[in-house]
Amino acid sequence: MSNTQIDKGALFTLGYGLYVVSSHREGRLNGQIANAVMQVTSTPPKIAVAINKDNLTHEYISHSSALAITILSESAPMKLIGLFGFRSGRDVDKFAEVSFETLPSGCPFVKEHSLAYIDAQVEAAHDSGTHTIFIARVIGAQIIGQGKPMSYAYYSQTLRGKTPPTAPTYKAQAPFGNR
Ligand SMILES: Cc1cc2nc3c(=O)[nH]c(=O)nc-3n(C[C@H](O)[C@H](O)[C@H](O)COP(=O)(O)O)c2cc1C
Repeated sequence: MSNTQIDKGALFTLGYGLYVVSSHREGRLNGQIANAVMQVTSTPPKIAVAINKDNLTHEYISHSSALAITILSESAPMKLIGLFGFRSGRDVDKFAEVSFETLPSGCPFVKEHSLAYIDAQVEAAHDSGTHTIFIARVIGAQIIGQGKPMSYAYYSQTLRGKTPPTAPTYKAQAPFGNR
């Protein structure tokens, strides 16, 4: 079968979670929501994240070569996702609004509505146009809460949450519903 059409609905059948990716620069802390997070190797454990070049988090990760992932639970309210996913650290001190702790890398993780954190050291950065794919070695990880991890499908379909243009999965029309 040859079909060169790109139906973005097909891409929306990919499964994701929902995370806060955070970093630091000269004592300042910042983080953002990302669904483009995955584990890429087991020995040693490494993760990859796709971060928009316009985001303040991108600047901090590029500068510090460190990042942390907070795994959000389904209990995370829209207010928390809105703070980290629709506002920039250039306009608001996001970590002043939540409870957090700082990890050995210097990156913060969110303590509320979260199941676990991963602390990581960036080893490679791949230029992917609008986004950079950072590949990072895990230097620490702990479970900190109980519950179900927030999936991107739960956020989109159950909570009816939206996605801004800086997300890799952005689609101008509603991702689910009339295709
Ligand atoms: C559901 C959702 C998923 C997102 N996924 C990503 C992502 O994978 N990568 C990315 O760079 N931005 C993603 N974003 C957008 C950033 O969270 C957003 O641009 C944020 O405001 C950047 O903040 P900063 O400038 O403080 O770094 C997502 C946002 C939402 C709400």
